[in-house]
Amino acid sequence: MFNAKSDTIEILHAKSKNEFSNLAAKSFCQSLKSSPQKKPIVILPTGNTPLPLYAELRNSEKKLDFIYFQLDEYIGLEPSSKRLFTNWLADEILDPMDIPHEQRITFRSDNLFPQDEIDMMRSWYKENGPADIAVLGIGANGHIGFNEPPSDENSQTRLVKLSNETLKSNNAYWDNDKKAPEYALTLGISEILHAKKIILLATGKSKAIILKKALTEPPSPEIPASYLQNHPNVTVIADAEALSEFKS
Ligand code: F6R
Repeated sequence: MFNAKSDTIEILHAKSKNEFSNLAAKSFCQSLKSSPQKKPIVILPTGNTPLPLYAELRNSEKKLDFIYFQLDEYIGLEPSSKRLFTNWLADEILDPMDIPHEQRITFRSDNLFPQDEIDMMRSWYKENGPADIAVLGIGANGHIGFNEPPSDENSQTRLVKLSNETLKSNNAYWDNDKKAPEYALTLGISEILHAKKIILLATGKSKAIILKKALTEPPSPEIPASYLQNHPNVTVIADAEALSEFKS
């Protein structure tokens, strides 16, 4: 048994890669199905961790329909850039699932006035939110979305400077052949915590220490993911390596 400090967090241990993608897809589809909305609002992460989930969803026969609300995006990239998180998610899941473009609420990375994008996302969310489901990964420094430490529980959608640690791990997505932008836009912790259901995915040894801290230490801005302890409905799906700091 793996226990978080808060009893509103359920931890599911995936014993194999297959089980990880199955559990993640099952949890995602069940949450979609149980939403009273015809088109639930869904927040999705990029990164390596959710790739098995997206592959599982692509390979299933299920027809899913939802409104995609973007979690985070770099600033200053051309619309055709392969580094754009919008394009990454379009390839991985939104295009394969035929999610119409008008159901993709995204930051425009090449807007010279990022504050416009922040205002647009904040007011869209105010009018249409909260999200029904937020799927998240966790950074090795405890970030969720691009809420780098320190990030307050009340933080909102904003412009952030990425830490060196985050830049290093993100550059590795593209074999370090070009540098990722240093600035990004992210939903804040408060908007993420408004989601009705949160699914946190974590795999690999590099997440073990931070996952344990995030789920068992008192919530603090130094570990933004620790604020998930204050949410009423979180499912963590993690492999044995990511759970290795928990004593069974
Ligand atoms: C990216 C995002 C980040 C990642 C985190 C983990 O959209 O929201 O918080 O989820 O950096 O990245 P991976 O999965 O590559 O370890």
